Amino acid sequence: MSRADRWTTADLPELTDRTVLVTGTTVGGLGHFTSLELARRGARVVLTGRNPARVAETRQAILDEAPGAALEQVELDLADLSSVRRAAAAVAGLGPIDVLVNNAGVMGTPYSRTPDGLELQMATNHFGPFLLTGLLLPQLIASEHARVVTVSSQMHRVARSAPLDDPRTSHGRYRRWPAYGQSKLSNLLFTYELERRLRRAELPVKALAAHPGFASTHLAANGQYGRSTGGIASVLDGAIKVVSPNTAARGAWPTLMAATADLPGASYVGPDGFMEWGGRPRVTSSNRLSYDETTQRRLWQLSEQTVGITYP
Ligand SMILES: NC(=O)c1ccc[n+]([C@@H]2O[C@H](COP(=O)([O-])OP(=O)(O)OC[C@H]3O[C@@H](n4cnc5c(N)ncnc54)[C@H](OP(=O)(O)O)[C@@H]3O)[C@@H](O)[C@H]2O)c1
Repeated sequence: MSRADRWTTADLPELTDRTVLVTGTTVGGLGHFTSLELARRGARVVLTGRNPARVAETRQAILDEAPGAALEQVELDLADLSSVRRAAAAVAGLGPIDVLVNNAGVMGTPYSRTPDGLELQMATNHFGPFLLTGLLLPQLIASEHARVVTVSSQMHRVARSAPLDDPRTSHGRYRRWPAYGQSKLSNLLFTYELERRLRRAELPVKALAAHPGFASTHLAANGQYGRSTGGIASVLDGAIKVVSPNTAARGAWPTLMAATADLPGASYVGPDGFMEWGGRPRVTSSNRLSYDETTQRRLWQLSEQTVGITYP
């Protein structure tokens, strides 16, 4: 591989006989381009999403670019814990999983509670992925050299505190941006605690995190309007394309580096440009709160109680 700070997709290794599961793979988003590059290198990619028609669209888009790609499709709604359990059951027959990419997410959504009584951003961005990772752990261990890559954001820095209160109860007025920041802080607290627990249990799985900088995906429009096309949603989606320093394809590079480069567990990969908005991926660091072990442990325990699973 070239030097870690000069990483490009040319550094992606051959991935034949590897299986990767990616969440949130809708066309035009980071999950789509993450899946495409991994499929190009020969990986079998399990495309997941809450809308089967959208997953099928991604499958076709990848096949158009990489004919013969080995693709599986699984329905997965991370905002519904019963759907996460069904998806894990559907994946159980696929054998060892070499990389799990916890990519799916929502940003800045209006206040809403999921069927499990959880605030939507925390449910989608943290609790769903927490449960999914735990349920897939036996298949990750079976790979004997697996990784869990979770996609965070520089917006984790907006969070003043970790979300450690009872997640099924409202605590004061809901503010959508701090709530997003807390969910992205949770991605990092989760990654660092997972890595420590995996090392303590001497399991052959590493946990890493990545962030894309600022990439032109449908995240902003989806969060504000629940869609990226039609009327004002199209206007916002188009504006994001103009101002983003990164294309969606480039935004996937930090994830791809975290998924495949020779890096230690707990590495956090992001772009190297101004404010980490764009540029080449390299190992970076997250804020001080994300490295606080007591906070990591408390979020882990709260997450176990909330989704009803204990691991590793
Ligand atoms: N774009 C950026 O600049 C940026 C910056 C920092 C971090 N990120 C992070 O990057 C990740 C990917 O976002 P993106 O920018 O690619 O946005 P995107 O284009 O909106 O893609 C988000 C993906 O998540 C899926 N998703 C949303 N809710 C879900 C649920 N309940 N269950 C399963 N899948 C669900 C979406 O599916 P649907 O199509 O069905 O909605 C979509 O496939 C997110 O974790 C985000 O926080 C992005």
